[in-house]
Amino acid sequence: MSVAVNEALTTATKWLADAGIPNADVDARILLAHAMDCEPSRLMLIGDEEVHPEVFRTFDGYLAAREKFQPVSQIIGGREFWGRWFVITPDVLDPRPETESLIETALQHGPFQRILDLGTGSGILAVTLAAEWADARAIAIDISSEAIAIATKNAVAHDVSDRVNLIVSNWFDAVAGQFDLIVSNPPYIAAAEMAELSPDVRNWEPFLALTPGGDGLETYRIIAPMLNEFLADDGLALFEIGHTQGTDVVEIFKTAGFANVTVSQDLGGKDRVVAVKK
Ligand SMILES: C[S@@+](CC[C@H](N)C(=O)[O-])C[C@H]1O[C@@H](n2cnc3c(N)ncnc32)[C@H](O)[C@@H]1O
Repeated sequence: MSVAVNEALTTATKWLADAGIPNADVDARILLAHAMDCEPSRLMLIGDEEVHPEVFRTFDGYLAAREKFQPVSQIIGGREFWGRWFVITPDVLDPRPETESLIETALQHGPFQRILDLGTGSGILAVTLAAEWADARAIAIDISSEAIAIATKNAVAHDVSDRVNLIVSNWFDAVAGQFDLIVSNPPYIAAAEMAELSPDVRNWEPFLALTPGGDGLETYRIIAPMLNEFLADDGLALFEIGHTQGTDVVEIFKTAGFANVTVSQDLGGKDRVVAVKK
């Protein structure tokens, strides 16, 4: 049986939409393009071309995975962050576009030389900053050895593995020294909000990457009292937050003795990054 690109897209979109996948047309396009090893935009130009049966079988497998709400980035094995491609698997958080706000803030204040990334996941923050600043050296930690393995792949892919030291650590436990820039996108979803998450997130992303339990603020409470020891005197610490957490997180760092604590917004105008200085 031969199927043209347009027909494959129409059928797949309906199939995914019927399964409850939002933006089914966008996902169908990305998945078919990945199966055909081309850019999604190219599909518009080749709508009448036949999809090779082997490619169609691959596409069918992708659709079956998406129908079970597996995130697209996990199915195609990665996603772009700050213009670079990162390997993504079920062992790491699927990087969110709003986390680019943290990179944007860091770049506005940089360059920095000694960087610490707490809870690195796929390595997006440490690897991006090391790639942007040729003189920077980073330590990037995560409690998950599986995440450290993925972050290592990403550091190698972006040619920064000689400047990014990836280690398994429970927050600061295995960290020594002082840093000019400390970045972290810690787990911050409240326990009560976990049930409301979409199945893509709840069923497919690592629990440890999503929530510290309780009110979602526990990680900031752990990090704040230890920050003074690890942050250089003229250093900067940047933390991603949930958009309703600004006031609470500012209070946590002020209570830990930091006078200079500010909140900035993401592109959607929501509170997203807390900046802490001594
Ligand atoms: C929200 S994810 C952020 C991942 C990545 N930095 C990003 O922005 O996509 C939080 C990360 O913190 C890690 N983590 C959770 N608890 C930790 C702990 N006690 N010590 C170190 N890392 C931890 C998780 O494994 C996860 O990779």
